[in-house]
Amino acid sequence: MKLGLLHPGAMGVSVGEAMRSAGHEVLWISDGRSAATCQRAQGGGFSDCGSLAALVESVEGIVSVCPPDQALTLARAVISAGYTGVYLDANAVSPDTAREIYAVVGEDFVDGGIVGPPATQPGSTRLYLSGERAAQVATWFDGGYLDAQLVAGPPGSASALKMCYAAYTKGTSALLLAIRALAAAEGVEAGLLQEWSISQPALTARSQGAARGSAPKAWRFAGEMEEIAATFAAQDLPDGFHLAARDVYRRLEAFKDQEEVSLESVLEALRSH
Ligand SMILES: NC(=O)c1ccc[n+]([C@@H]2O[C@H](COP(=O)([O-])OP(=O)(O)OC[C@H]3O[C@@H](n4cnc5c(N)ncnc54)[C@H](OP(=O)(O)O)[C@@H]3O)[C@@H](O)[C@H]2O)c1
Repeated sequence: MKLGLLHPGAMGVSVGEAMRSAGHEVLWISDGRSAATCQRAQGGGFSDCGSLAALVESVEGIVSVCPPDQALTLARAVISAGYTGVYLDANAVSPDTAREIYAVVGEDFVDGGIVGPPATQPGSTRLYLSGERAAQVATWFDGGYLDAQLVAGPPGSASALKMCYAAYTKGTSALLLAIRALAAAEGVEAGLLQEWSISQPALTARSQGAARGSAPKAWRFAGEMEEIAATFAAQDLPDGFHLAARDVYRRLEAFKDQEEVSLESVLEALRSH
């Protein structure tokens, strides 16, 4: 099949590579994309269609892997361009946002949620899928590193699972960074680390890893935290954890795409935003 990929970001390129491993041709659009995305697309061996109008004419399926707060806008643009095939939204969005995209796309919509890092080895990364055409879309990834798993339930169920998963991983990373900043501000950092070494031995390394791993992606995580907060609120559960996590990540947006990030610089940014 010819499948469209919007867009080859860090995760998107591995989604495209999985589709190529399954024997499909992957098309993308260079128009408006950064040099980093163009480089990833070339490395992945994807074919540049030039424009959205050309892409929608050429493909039988489209996968959306973009910043979560752009997922609905992107779906609207694709449908406005005249696309009528199967559309997989694989972004970290709330079930309600997924259902809004469903309303835009119609019956050919498949809801997806990715758990794990970009898939460069077997067993690292799952693509959860829900909706009537989920089983069909799962075959797009046969034999690749991305492990497609069906989730029972209507469109929105795969996104709900992703929201629950990321609520813990990214929510607790933000909490740990805020705690480290607080301990530094109160002058009790050494004491806290000493106590953690006795009673919570994983947390020192985890907070260091959160600074390194999360700060460069914080600009994107802020939108994802809002989607998670909305998911809690829609079920009449407290949404404040993830609204606070959004605020933590917003204070770190200046680290976008930086390769070397120290815990100290992250704590400083949290306190002096
Ligand atoms: N990375 C992970 O480990 C991971 C794990 C699980 C789920 N996910 C999900 O995968 C999705 C994409 O993540 P990613 O890591 O690939 O992000 P990324 O590396 O930041 O890539 C985002 C891609 O979207 C493009 N883009 C930027 N602004 C856009 C806009 N306004 N409209 C449409 N596209 C835009 C970017 O192009 P430019 O280069 O031109 O900016 C880039 O190609 C997100 O929904 C994320 O939650 C990622």
